[in-house]
Order: sequence, then structure tokens, then C-alpha cells
Amino acid sequence: MNKNTFLYFIAAVAATGGLLFGFDTGVINVALPSLREQFALSPTQESTVVSAVLFGALFGPVLSGILTDLLGRKKINLLASIIFVVGSILAALASSVAMLIVGRLFLGLAIGIVSATIPLYLAELSPKEKRGQLVTFFQLAITLGILLSYVVGYWFQHTEAAWRAMFWAGFIPAMMLFIGMLLVPESPRWLLFKGREEEAIAALNKLRDEDVVAQELQEIRLTLQKEAKNKSSWKDLFSKKLRTPLLIVCLIFGIQQFSGINAIIYFSTDIFKDMFNDTQATLATVGVGIVNTLATIFGMRFLDKWGRKPMLYTGLLGTAICLATVGLAFYFKSSLPDGLRQAMLIGGIYVYIIFFAISLGPLGWLLTSEIFPLKIRGFASSFGSLNHWFFDMLVAFSFPLMRATSLGENGGIFGIYMLVVLLGLLFAKYMVFETKGLSLEDIEKRYE
Ligand code: BGC
Repeated sequence: MNKNTFLYFIAAVAATGGLLFGFDTGVINVALPSLREQFALSPTQESTVVSAVLFGALFGPVLSGILTDLLGRKKINLLASIIFVVGSILAALASSVAMLIVGRLFLGLAIGIVSATIPLYLAELSPKEKRGQLVTFFQLAITLGILLSYVVGYWFQHTEAAWRAMFWAGFIPAMMLFIGMLLVPESPRWLLFKGREEEAIAALNKLRDEDVVAQELQEIRLTLQKEAKNKSSWKDLFSKKLRTPLLIVCLIFGIQQFSGINAIIYFSTDIFKDMFNDTQATLATVGVGIVNTLATIFGMRFLDKWGRKPMLYTGLLGTAICLATVGLAFYFKSSLPDGLRQAMLIGGIYVYIIFFAISLGPLGWLLTSEIFPLKIRGFASSFGSLNHWFFDMLVAFSFPLMRATSLGENGGIFGIYMLVVLLGLLFAKYMVFETKGLSLEDIEKRYE
């Protein structure tokens, strides 16, 4: 295998972690109807089953924050793949709501780990000119995982206890991640950090052409020397100097989640059922997955070309208009003709997904991986994903509960999400700075 192909092979293995992130969070959307049938879930049980994954995911970044430097990038991801396998088996075999929740907690823990460690592993293995593309590959894998879960859901929807088959399907990529992780190299950067020179050189030789190996090794050594003089601790993350990037990672994930993305990703089948029959609703959900993946591929090309800020403005404005459209489809439920309401609902949601996928979706993970100085990047990426899962859990837990109130009936929930997105425009204008075309070192100079 030539070195470039090998790099893409590693990226594909690592991206399986993103695929599982998307699959195990998205699958609940299509599994809920049959779970409800089997366990007669109350709204509170339903919220708990959905958000158990997200609650588990809160612990992943904490665990990976402690273990990634100790065990290495490869072993922590191997550990995550074993937890994915165990979680998939527990969820698929669940004989009670409690067991289902435990299985989903395990899956969440594994998702939380990979969300903090895979972008880091990818960034450390990539040559600098491919780093942006390879990190956004993670977001693409998430959307592919979501799409896969919807297709599996559509496929099995009429089978007996369909949810079991759907959870079993997650076992396959979990095993793939486990086997794949055995075949990829450890990060040369981490090996040097641990003083394992020879292994680091061997790993780098597998990834780069001979003429750049020596230079890259030298750069890593220099950075490590500087870092050794200037020991970092997680407390630096809260220093005055890093206030802006810290606020950016908190707010980007807050706005990303409170834009209501996962009200759609986790509950679209339910939302569509308000105006369509069961099969149409599941099919429309598969459509959400397809639009999401295609728009992400489109967005990947333009984030580097047009820049982060213009994409963010476009995405925020677009999502706000779409959320207003969906809200109005509910508000005027009894007065609008059926055809028009359906068009507003489905059109609003699909176009919303396009705007999200080219902006808030990739930018959360991209900004987190690029705006922090090197010595704090590991802590920062764990902190970023912790924020992500916290806000995600709030939205996933509150959505079914709010839907059972008048805010669900009259579309007010979508109005709330729209307000958050509009406030996001101020955040984009006054806080986010453009990183297009800058090297990570250039960005780091801002804080000196
Ligand atoms: C978010 C997920 C979301 C997905 C949708 C990701 O960037 O982190 O919460 O489900 O995008 O594509």
C-alpha cells in the first residue's frame, strides 16, 4: 500500500468512530416507534432512553482527558471500540427499560471518548496541508452514520421487535473499529512525547516520504522542548489569554445544539408523523440523512475556500428562516391547506439541514480543533466535546417533554430555536475570528 493510500486507510478506520457516533445517536429516531410499542414508554422514560447515550457521552471526554496521554491515542480508541461492542450487545439484548438504558449509557461513553480522541488522532497523523480536510472527514462520518441508522430503520421497520435488529446493526461497525484500530500505527507525536524515539521514527516512516520525515521529527522535538519548559495544565484553559477561544467553543456548541439539530436528527420520524403516515415519515427521515450527508460534502469544499465566517453567517440566517417556516406550519395547523403545510414542514426541515451541514455542523468540531495553542489542545478538545454533550443532552431531554405541551402544539419550540440562532449572528460577528488559510502556528500567535 503506498503511503498516501495508507493515510486514507487510517483516516477511514478512525472515521469509523465518527460513523458509530452518528449511528448510535441517530438510531433512536427510527427505533423509538417499536421501543414504545414493546415497553409502553412514558414521555419521561422516552426522554431518558434517548438522552442516556448523551449522559454517558459526558463521561467520555473526562475519561479520555485522563487516559489519552497515559495510554496513547491508539489504545484509548481500542478501549472505546470494546465499549461500543459491549454497549451494542446490551442494547440489542435488552429485556427491560433499565437494561436498555445501561446499554445506551455504555454506547454514550464510547461516543464521548471517540469524539474527543479521533479528531486529535487525525490531526496528529495528518500532514499539515491535509489536516482541515481530514478533521472534517470526522463530521462526514457522523452524517454517514446517521444516514446508515435511518436506512437500517427503514429496512427493518416492519419486522418483529424491529429495534433489536437496529441495535444489532451497530455491532458490525463496532467490530470494524476494533479490528481496524489493531492495524493502524500509534501517533508518532505521542510516541516522541513518551521518549519512544525508534517507534516514532518507524511510525512516521510509514506515513511520510523519506525527505520530510527528518524535518517533521525535528519540528515535533522542538515543540516538545518548548512545551517541557512551559508545562501546561488544564487550568491554563481558563486563563485570561484564552478567554476568547474558550468562549468560542462553549458558544459554538451551545448554538449548534440549541439550533435544534438533534430535535430533528433524533425525532424527525415523530415530527413527520404529525402530517404523514408511518412509512412516509420513515422515508422522509431517510431523506434527512441523505440531504445531511450530501450537504456536508458540499460544505467541506467551501469552508477552506470561502472561509469560516461567511459560511457561519449563511448557515445561521438560513437555519433561522427554515425554523420560522417549520414553526408556522404547526402554528397554522388548522387553517392552512394540507399540501401547503406538508410542503412547509418537509421543505423547512430539509433546507434547514442543508444550512446546518455547511456551517454549524462541521464548524463546531473544526474550530475546537484549530483555535487552541498546541500545548492545551488535548484538554481543549476534551472540554469542547464535554460542552457538546451537555447541550445535546439538554435539548434531547427537553424536546419530547416540550412537545407534550402547548409549545409543541403551536410550533413555539421552533420559535425558541430560531431565537438562539439569531443571537448566534452576534456571536459570529463579534467573537469568531477567521482562520481560513492560517497555519495552526499563525493562529497560536494571536495569544502571545
Ligand atoms: C453534531 C451532532 C449532530 C450532527 C448532525 C454534528 O456536528 O455534533 O450533534 O447530530 O452534527 O449531522
